[in-house]
Amino acid sequence: MLFSILTLFPDAVESYLDVGVLGIARTRGLVQTRVVDLRDFSRDRHRTVDDRPFGGGPGMVLKPEPIVEAVEWLEARHGEHRRIALTPDGTTLTQGFVESLASPPASSEEHEDVKPILLLCGRYEGFDERALELLQFERLSIGDYVLAGGELGALVLIEAAARLVPGVLGDDRSAVEDSYTTANGGALDHPHFTRPRVFRGRSVPDVLLGGDHGAIDQWRLEESQKRTQRKRAQQEGSQPTNNQDA
Ligand code: ADE
Repeated sequence: MLFSILTLFPDAVESYLDVGVLGIARTRGLVQTRVVDLRDFSRDRHRTVDDRPFGGGPGMVLKPEPIVEAVEWLEARHGEHRRIALTPDGTTLTQGFVESLASPPASSEEHEDVKPILLLCGRYEGFDERALELLQFERLSIGDYVLAGGELGALVLIEAAARLVPGVLGDDRSAVEDSYTTANGGALDHPHFTRPRVFRGRSVPDVLLGGDHGAIDQWRLEESQKRTQRKRAQQEGSQPTNNQDA
């Protein structure tokens, strides 16, 4: 799985790519990343990449030239990419989307068609619209709120996809049994407990200590269903809640 990231903050992106699951995945060659500095495609000695919006208004807009030239440069060297711009007006990221990136179609014909993924991270007020139109970018949001740029969104997507690549997690079951996986019908994960058995007066549920794996599986299934139903009901509202006490 190969990601090219176009950003104004290559160092910040690289430093996150180096740690944890992503660091391991990259070291093992299971995920490859290429980080490109958009400022390298500026045309002036101040390395300017933004300008004031036509029509007035606050903030600055990313100019089209550095974006288009960076993509052309990248694709001339490394082939055509699936182009995705991180932006709050994009389609909201879901586990289903992540799974579709991580597990391309099984048939070999289609498989040959799998392209590296280009992630364009915006800053300021956004991108000049023409750059996205000309290059037919897909638009992706990581949620209905506004960040200062797309870098966190790009990292969210890469991390979510990387942990689905076989061999990246210590135990491949983790990815299958996790919350939201389509294999689980999008259900949420059950609660987890570890030692000590009693912590500040709260005990681990007895069923988990009894060694009856049928009963444990049943309990986990029921807890997973409760969490999933509770979360779906909450989605009407927007405030996070304390699931344990609900
Ligand atoms: N850039 C700014 N806000 C964003 C969001 N919510 N998702 C993706 N990219 C963004």
